[in-house]
Amino acid sequence: MRAAHNATIVSEPTGMIDAAGAAWPDVADFEQVLVARDPRSGARIVLAIHDTTLGPAFGGIRRHAYLDLRAAIADVAALARAMTWKCALADLPAGGGKIAILDGPDLDRRAAYALVGERVDALAGRFHTGPDVGTTVADLAVVAERTRHCATGGHGDLGDSTARGVLAAIAATAAHGGRELRGLRVLVQGLGAVGAPLCRRLAAAGVDLLVADVDGAAVAAIAGPLDARIVAADAVLTTPCDLLAPCALGGALDVAAARTVPAGAICGAANNVLAAPAAGRILHARGIPVAPDFVANAGGLIHGVTFERDGCAPTPARFERIGGVVAELLASSRREDVPPGELALRAARAKVAAAAAARR
Ligand code: NAI
Repeated sequence: MRAAHNATIVSEPTGMIDAAGAAWPDVADFEQVLVARDPRSGARIVLAIHDTTLGPAFGGIRRHAYLDLRAAIADVAALARAMTWKCALADLPAGGGKIAILDGPDLDRRAAYALVGERVDALAGRFHTGPDVGTTVADLAVVAERTRHCATGGHGDLGDSTARGVLAAIAATAAHGGRELRGLRVLVQGLGAVGAPLCRRLAAAGVDLLVADVDGAAVAAIAGPLDARIVAADAVLTTPCDLLAPCALGGALDVAAARTVPAGAICGAANNVLAAPAAGRILHARGIPVAPDFVANAGGLIHGVTFERDGCAPTPARFERIGGVVAELLASSRREDVPPGELALRAARAKVAAAAAARR
């Protein structure tokens, strides 16, 4: 991303400064960042391909009312990068990408998704897209009219596949602390597409289940049938538990929460659960293991990529493998006295760099 030609450009670590003095996100490590506008409707999208060293980019379509184009690029860049690392540690022949549609009251939704379909198709298989926040099965159908590189919902329940991976990660995190799932007091925050099936799987494994959601109906649908204790949504970070499973929005744990959260361990599906790397270092210093989110929540991606490539769902062993990776990371973290999230990032970067070097 270049600042306007007449802008004052000041070099600084996070990106460029435009004429108004605001920083543009740094996307120098990206293979491609494309901003497109449909001239008829004015619909705008951002499509980013971070790295295809390991294979074609995979990334869903997020429709969101961003503050501006800059915010959309920043969001897409962070999500696409995380996808590259997630693919690497999930041992998938795939790379990181993401698409954002800039939502607003005047958005011509059909035109926006049609534009996405045209741009994805023009990439001729370098990019595979699918659902993300704000995108429905009907939206995906519009994309799929224009490209075959779009998962349309016929792949199966990706939320449950994510939950299967999270369950394996939780079991590994518990084992790291010398515990088994039976009798473990697990607090699940967020009972949606991932949290709800995760609760069912945890209950079947005999955990002592606590649940929280801002949506009362979501709580009612889970707590009664599974005999789970209800925790108020605003009491999640102050309720003692053996393991906290954040499955709502990202950023649940900031530095202040990391200092006080009364959880023995943390492992959930929410992306970017640590609001800042400093929060991870504080939790590590307190002896609270945190299973890296982009490792624990890779089950849905594993399902999507396998289905796209092989036309069938992954074997159970593919989800179990997530537990093995988490176990290794937590053991290295203890040995090297480095937060597991930092080790995971290091390992993912090294894997991509080694593949790139082998190609040269
Ligand atoms: P969802 O939108 O289906 O469910 C989220 C749930 O969290 C909703 O029930 C919502 O009411 C609740 N919630 C929101 N704010 C809350 C709060 N402050 N306290 C308690 N509950 C709150 O989302 P989904 O698909 O289940 O995803 C959950 C997380 O996992 C997200 O961070 C997502 O990015 C991540 N993730 C999801 C994957 C998937 O396969 N769906 C794959 C990988 C990551």
